[in-house]
Amino acid sequence: MSAIAREAGALLLQYFHQGLKIEYKGDADLVTAADRASEALIRERISKQFPSHDVLGEEQGLNDQGSDYRWYVDPLDGTTNFAHGYPVFCVSMALERRAPQDRLSGQQGRRIAGVVYDPTRDELFTAEQGRGAHLNGEPIHVSKAGQLKECLLATGFPSHKRHKNPNIHFYHQITLHTHGVRRPGSAALDLCNVASGRFDGFWEFNLNPWDTAAGVLIVEEAGGKVSRFDGSRFELDSRETLASNGLVHDALLREFQEIFAGRGLDPLPEPSEYKR
Ligand code: IPD
Ligand code: CA
Ligand code: CA
Repeated sequence: MSAIAREAGALLLQYFHQGLKIEYKGDADLVTAADRASEALIRERISKQFPSHDVLGEEQGLNDQGSDYRWYVDPLDGTTNFAHGYPVFCVSMALERRAPQDRLSGQQGRRIAGVVYDPTRDELFTAEQGRGAHLNGEPIHVSKAGQLKECLLATGFPSHKRHKNPNIHFYHQITLHTHGVRRPGSAALDLCNVASGRFDGFWEFNLNPWDTAAGVLIVEEAGGKVSRFDGSRFELDSRETLASNGLVHDALLREFQEIFAGRGLDPLPEPSEYKR
């Protein structure tokens, strides 16, 4: 997996240095030739080594052969950054196993391995279920921050339907209670940065399974916690992702509860107040 991710990452870098034409999938949803070339390469490598495995990739969708194994592939996470020449993007791949008895009983599969590769920094994040998480082969662990007021967090905003997303309220409120909230533009890397202790937590609405499958396993294997916004169990189709070092998870859940209930919100100042 690592070799495939590194190869796809090197391909992305070639395109990055070359400059690219931006195309639109939706109003503000970008795609480039690099997204497609990276996915084609990854699929080719997987099908050569594991011809019976299923693959769900962002650009080509699901190839379902009824296998117990399914790969989740985001060939380029951070396309908007990439297309603007901002060097924050990665390749994300995860492998899930769903035993036949799980499938019959409607059980979710188990993520057994995940890899996220950032070619701009040559950083390879890896995790295997039950065997910890690593960055370039060295073990990594989530941070030890125990209070929100000492935390640096990250979030993201989906590229489409931004006007229907309540996240701006969460961004505002949680910014006021922490060291700050970054919005780097690659959810898979945000999760890896929680795993390696650079961020103490991360949340986002409406992510897709290919954004989260690898990063969530990497956070969990690094000792962190991932849930929905009400604290319930995270599943790949949850559409709510809250990851943290585990120590500030309850405090974040309380913030979410308050914001959803509309309680204790600090009002945004009117532009005229700034002028004064
Ligand atoms: C996007 C990035 C971004 C997040 C968006 C995702 P893409 O993935 O992960 O950080 O805010 O919600 O769609 O489209 O660049 O693969
Ligand atoms: Ca993505
Ligand atoms: Ca993508």
